[in-house]
Amino acid sequence: MALDRNAPNDLNAFWMPFTANRQFKKNPRMFVGAKDMHYTTSDGRQVLDGTAGLWCCNAGHCRPKITEAIQKQAAELDYAPAFQMGHPVAFELANRIIDIAPKGIEHVFYTNSGSESVETALKLAIAYHRARGESTRTRLIGRERGYHGVNFGGISVGGIVNNRRMFGTLLGGVDHLPHTHLPGQNAYTRGMPEHGANLADELERIVALHGAETVAAVIVEPVAGSTGVLIPPKGYLQRLREITKKHGILLIFDEVITGFGRLGTPFAAQYFDVLPDMMTTAKGLTNGVIPMGAVLTTAAVHDAFMQGPEHVIELFHGYTYSGNPIASAAGIATLETYREEGLFERAAEIAPYWEDALHSLKGLPHVIDIRNLGLIGAVELDPIAGEPTKRAFSAFLAAYDKNILIRTTGDIIAMSPPLMITKAQIDTLIGTLADVLKKLD
Ligand SMILES: Cc1ncc(COP(=O)(O)O)c(C=O)c1O
Repeated sequence: MALDRNAPNDLNAFWMPFTANRQFKKNPRMFVGAKDMHYTTSDGRQVLDGTAGLWCCNAGHCRPKITEAIQKQAAELDYAPAFQMGHPVAFELANRIIDIAPKGIEHVFYTNSGSESVETALKLAIAYHRARGESTRTRLIGRERGYHGVNFGGISVGGIVNNRRMFGTLLGGVDHLPHTHLPGQNAYTRGMPEHGANLADELERIVALHGAETVAAVIVEPVAGSTGVLIPPKGYLQRLREITKKHGILLIFDEVITGFGRLGTPFAAQYFDVLPDMMTTAKGLTNGVIPMGAVLTTAAVHDAFMQGPEHVIELFHGYTYSGNPIASAAGIATLETYREEGLFERAAEIAPYWEDALHSLKGLPHVIDIRNLGLIGAVELDPIAGEPTKRAFSAFLAAYDKNILIRTTGDIIAMSPPLMITKAQIDTLIGTLADVLKKLD
């Protein structure tokens, strides 16, 4: 049967991820094309992308340099074994990533997704301590409302209840910091909130409870995205760094959404001027075009493994597609696109306009908070009593009908447009969202 790219006639087989499958299949929303800031729908509409796909298409869509690099690489070297063999493109990409990474970050371990980057970093943390003779350090500390992907390590250190509750007892030896969302004190903050840095001190309590010698790592998102955009309070991340350092605990920043320009710097670590021991990345690394992730580490983490006989594998971990040639080529072309178009700087420049536009929604029906940092924004809605998530989901559907793509999590609308967005497009996005909110039940 010929493939109809505009209207498949049977939607049954594909079990869609993180989707209300039955609702979707009754009334599908299909994208069939994309260019720069817009998607094309199967009914021929242009939809303004307010979310960079899923926080990943930071350079916009179908960018020529990336497309060409993929085509060329696919024709030249399609695949090379990832274990005990190499190819130049993966090495080149690693060097380019380190060029823009914070000073002190020196090595790249490739994965295929944010979830795999998280699993890799958690395993590295435990193995790092063991390699240095501290094998009692196995405990992992995450944070309430954290999102670290969907694999077992990630959901264990993560703190989103719906992502955890169906899946049994998860990893043992995990504890959680409190989240930093303090609507009573910080509602409608522009940028970083004033209140909440002291919540990092809870780490002292957790460490005292378990004993520092049992703790391997703390993992947090510098800006929590999937849980509804929680901006770190001023001084909070610095405090986490101080406490982890004091106790010999590794600090992992999950930069899967904050990496590659979202805050106007290459990584959030540079924006907040806090150097973690490891950073997990994915998404914007290849502009979302080809699955790829990477864990970035300091020399100290890497070097701890580089011992013993040289013919022996130092780390028993890796993926068939780690550093895949086509993904690596996409990564290089993506980083070049960011640089040539000055997209990170552009995000920094336009961020104040974005902030003003977002906060103009204050006072509209059901809006109870607005938060922003860099090119990230969230509008929190008052939930319908007894029907959590319904109001925001209705907003999402109405927005799609009005040709803008937003994202919702719980009753929070989250936005993270491609970094190429113009002021006029911000006006369209926020103006249309205002119209949607005014008509929402
Ligand atoms: C902070 C963070 N970590 C990990 C992930 C998981 O990434 P992936 O969906 O590529 O596995 C995400 C995805 O949104 C994320 O936001």
